Amino acid sequence: MIKGVTYLITVALLALASSLVSAYDPSPLQDFCVAINNTNSAVFVNGKFCKDPAAVTADDFFFPGLNIPAITTNKVGFNVTLVNVDLLPGLNTLGISLARLDFAPYGLDPPHIHPRASEILVVAEGTLLVGFVTSNPNKLFTKVLNKGDVFAFPIGLIHFQFNIGQTNAVAFAGLNSQNPGVITIANAVFGSYPPINPDVLVKAFQVDKNVVDYLQKQF
Ligand SMILES: *[C@@H]1O[C@H](CO)[C@@H](O)[C@H](O)[C@H]1NC(C)=O
Ligand SMILES: *[C@@H]1O[C@H](CO)[C@@H](O)[C@H](O)[C@H]1NC(C)=O
Repeated sequence: MIKGVTYLITVALLALASSLVSAYDPSPLQDFCVAINNTNSAVFVNGKFCKDPAAVTADDFFFPGLNIPAITTNKVGFNVTLVNVDLLPGLNTLGISLARLDFAPYGLDPPHIHPRASEILVVAEGTLLVGFVTSNPNKLFTKVLNKGDVFAFPIGLIHFQFNIGQTNAVAFAGLNSQNPGVITIANAVFGSYPPINPDVLVKAFQVDKNVVDYLQKQF
């Protein structure tokens, strides 16, 4: 009898624990849950607040303009337009988002991580050198992609896309999170606010202090 009760309690605790440590976007609890910021007119809660289903329209699932190139006249010659739940409220609880990536000639999407999503990318124009690096020991998986080629980047791994052509390049990427997040490695390490103590970076990167100073000034 006691044994049975202990078993039931253990099962209940495990079920509770697994629901608390859910590591991915949760599955929807209803057809949709259009995100809303004004909690006064919100109804069901599942992630963000949901708009009253009776007030939901097709526009809540619509985002125009992904045909328009983003400006790439910046240091890296790259820009990304990420249609996540903030731009398309209907994505709330659906566990997906979509990005347009624009590259100037030799433009670079610098090494970065999406902490909450794997990525699948298709090249629409141009030629990209892409790759990702596994967790330790760090093995590089790399490939040159042409128009129509698809490549997948596993969740949480450092990856990059580099336009090795003399023309602009365009790619589109699907991500399995409504809010994938991005950590750009160089910016995070050398451009954090407040800055990381240079002694940490000197030792970590095995370079002189003036190299660290120089890199910190770039970000
Ligand atoms: C990215 O493109 C948008 C739209 O063209 C522009 O407003 C923004 O300034 C660009 N960002 C960078 C970093 O170039
Ligand atoms: C909700 O608020 C956030 C942060 O202020 C904003 O970025 C986002 O665009 C807003 N979303 C909607 C659907 O109004």
